Amino acid sequence: IPVDPFDFIVFGGTGDLAERKLLPALYYRQRDHQFSEPTRIIGTSRAKLSDADFQAFARKAITDHVKADDIDEKELERFLARFSYVPADATTGAGFDALKKAVGDSDRIRAFYMAVSPSLFGDISHQLREHRLITPNSRIVVEKPIGRDLASARALNDLVGDDFGEQQIFRIDHYLGKETVQNLMALRFANMLYEPLWNSAHIDHVQITVAETVGLEDRVTYYDKAGALRDMVQNHILQLLCLVAMEAPSSMDADAVRDEKLKVLRALKRINGNEAPKLTVRGQYRAGASAGGPVEGYVEELGHGSDTETFVAIKAEIANWRWAGVPFYLRTGKRLATRVSEIVIEFKQIPHSIFGESAGNISPNQLVIRLQPNEGVKQYLMVKDPGPGGMRLRQIPLDMSFAQSFHSRAPDAYERLVMDVVRGNQTLFMRRDEVEAAWSWVDPILKAWEQNGQDAQGYTAGTWGPSSSIALIERDGRTWHESN
Ligand code: BG6
Repeated sequence: IPVDPFDFIVFGGTGDLAERKLLPALYYRQRDHQFSEPTRIIGTSRAKLSDADFQAFARKAITDHVKADDIDEKELERFLARFSYVPADATTGAGFDALKKAVGDSDRIRAFYMAVSPSLFGDISHQLREHRLITPNSRIVVEKPIGRDLASARALNDLVGDDFGEQQIFRIDHYLGKETVQNLMALRFANMLYEPLWNSAHIDHVQITVAETVGLEDRVTYYDKAGALRDMVQNHILQLLCLVAMEAPSSMDADAVRDEKLKVLRALKRINGNEAPKLTVRGQYRAGASAGGPVEGYVEELGHGSDTETFVAIKAEIANWRWAGVPFYLRTGKRLATRVSEIVIEFKQIPHSIFGESAGNISPNQLVIRLQPNEGVKQYLMVKDPGPGGMRLRQIPLDMSFAQSFHSRAPDAYERLVMDVVRGNQTLFMRRDEVEAAWSWVDPILKAWEQNGQDAQGYTAGTWGPSSSIALIERDGRTWHESN
């Protein structure tokens, strides 16, 4: 269904995020005929470029980042015809009058997308207000990092909140735009099967793994100051945890969903200084092999010494009736053995086996929700091995691969999210209090690491992280799910 015409104004229009994610996402929406006239895309940054330069940049972004088969020349031309460019500098206000002129006086939907460093969010939003560019139909889109701790997150939220109402602020966590993440809600709340079992009486524990094979990439300055806890856990992993753990919201209304997620974040048990060494693991990759070849260690890649963690594992707990006593084991890292993101729900053992020893082990049921790659859901069940040889049991998955079931391309998260911005639907965006509640849980861990001098332990690139992360779960008599 086409959306109403809108103006999409990209700050940092020629930056990396615009090139790799935003412009390709918008192109796909054009190709699928979701735009109505006169929708416009206006790039802005400090660089002095012309409309034609920006169009050339966009054309290259599309050819480099969209599959050749998906490029329809006619649609691409129509898409590029929407583009214009206005140079502007938020630190001085230069160019904002020109931007106002370019946007005009219409009350059409306006999305201001901050594809820039967070240090500029405040300056840009103040300039937008000063130049009377903010209309009731305007929205601002911001991305992580939203702060590096609770205090800086609050300060940033205050800055943007001075100029835009909470209903106009769209804080992106791109994990919420992933197909399988939304499917988690479908699985839980569109089926009768799971919800009665979704609690501490039937679930033994939950695992959330977001493993990457990439290293630092070209984000040296940002990443070395952030580390894996801030980069991945504070946002993506905690959002996944919320969707697994939240109570059923009464509807998909943005605040109904976000209220429930907030309760989970607030119920997360704080990890204090004494517990941190037992409940958390920090790691940093050393030289090894990844993605088919030898790779350098983190500090060699960085070019100087550093204790920043590129891996983190945490045993988290949610202190409420539904989840008391059910550990949530979280782990994420760079340069791990394989690229895989998944959520594993492990149910309890059956209370009593009627089968003799010859039947073999009875494994607990596992529900594995695979975010990427090969999106899908697997429900592991015990069945009888076929044949007349007596009762031997075996575990097999009921396998629902989305690619096989739907024969369609899995759209990138940004495709969904940019259109939700235009539609004004905040369900998949983080509310201010959520971001701050997540920091309230992360801050004590950061503090404990600092106070305890908890060093990042080395792990060889291409493995599953430091051995202590295996110990973290095995100490409890459990093991990490082996992804294949
Ligand atoms: C980003 C992190 O938010 O997510 C990156 O800053 C990480 O460090 C990326 O690589 C992972 O996203 P995806 O969609 O590739 O899993």
